[in-house]
Amino acid sequence: MATYEELKKRIEELVDPGYEKPLKEVNGIKKLTVGPTGVVDVELYFSKPGTPEETKFKINLIKLVKVELGFPGIKVTFEQNEVVNEGEKKIIYLGIASGKGGVGKSTVTANLAAALTRLGKTVGIIDADIYGASIPQILKIDIKPLSGTDDDMMIPLQNEGIEVISTEFFMPADKPIMWRGPMLGKMLSHYFGGVAWRDNTDFVLIDLPPGTGDVALDIQKFAQHTKMLIVTTPHVNAAHVAVKAGLGAQQIGHSVIGVVENMSYFLNPANKKREFIFGQGGGEKVAKQLGVDLLTQVPIGQPVDGYIFTSAEPAGQAYDLLASKVIDLLTE
Ligand SMILES: Nc1ncnc2c1ncn2[C@@H]1O[C@H](COP(=O)(O)OP(=O)(O)OP(=O)(O)O)[C@@H](O)[C@H]1O
Ligand SMILES: [Mg+2]
Repeated sequence: MATYEELKKRIEELVDPGYEKPLKEVNGIKKLTVGPTGVVDVELYFSKPGTPEETKFKINLIKLVKVELGFPGIKVTFEQNEVVNEGEKKIIYLGIASGKGGVGKSTVTANLAAALTRLGKTVGIIDADIYGASIPQILKIDIKPLSGTDDDMMIPLQNEGIEVISTEFFMPADKPIMWRGPMLGKMLSHYFGGVAWRDNTDFVLIDLPPGTGDVALDIQKFAQHTKMLIVTTPHVNAAHVAVKAGLGAQQIGHSVIGVVENMSYFLNPANKKREFIFGQGGGEKVAKQLGVDLLTQVPIGQPVDGYIFTSAEPAGQAYDLLASKVIDLLTE
């Protein structure tokens, strides 16, 4: 029986037929373990699951592992890994999560989208809030049935240069939360891959309901490469729950890119001093525990005009800073 290192090396050399590149180069190996009895368990991201090419690939893989390398058994799982054609841009999905409700996820999502747009990015939002439409309200988008493309893709609604798909477009508003919860997983599966976002869309932000649990797991299932941004307030209690949410996301394979502290301080207009009404240190604490950076601190206040802050306001500048860091962290 070959060593684990040899097994890994040989599997990494196998060529994904969609990319025409070795698995190593396309990060195709999701998981590779050898059980106590020597049975190999391998999970692969594969560009062509469910095709004859998958069957062919699988037969070669089993031959390699059992016949050539002498392992007693092998279990293979394939996961969709969309083929990105040369020159075609891949959309970056970024989930906005928190432990507690009401900390400002929807506000941060809408304002980050606006700030990214100011920096020249093309942005869409998935509003996955099951408690009621926040994003359409914030961006002043009327809730109405969506139209579709010829190949049945949903066409998002748009305002302020930002495209939006909201769970609220599909859910009867009078249904209780109990009924809405289980619906969300189904909705999410349609959001990833089922939306005709504009060409050249750079980012799709996902405004998540509070907590993680089912929703995060669903996202993991449909979009393995979704990144996460954790929102918290400066109060230590909120920080505690935010850490739980962040760690939950990290455990299931999401990559948390950083923390946003919202309602950080009140900028007293009389003396221009920062007043820490809701305490201090929450964002720093969450960031430290998750091993990421505190990316921005948003002051308390409402936009002068409408719901979106502009770069002329301190909160707008906090979002500009966040947007530039998000771009640095997520694009080469
Ligand atoms: N920095 C801020 N200063 C003052 N008010 C704010 C700030 N951020 C958010 N708010 C207000 O706090 C309330 C809750 O914000 P928001 O709806 O964005 O939170 P949420 O985390 O999305 O809530 P939920 O968990 O219900 O989805 C809103 O009324 C919003 O206008
Ligand atoms: Mg919300």
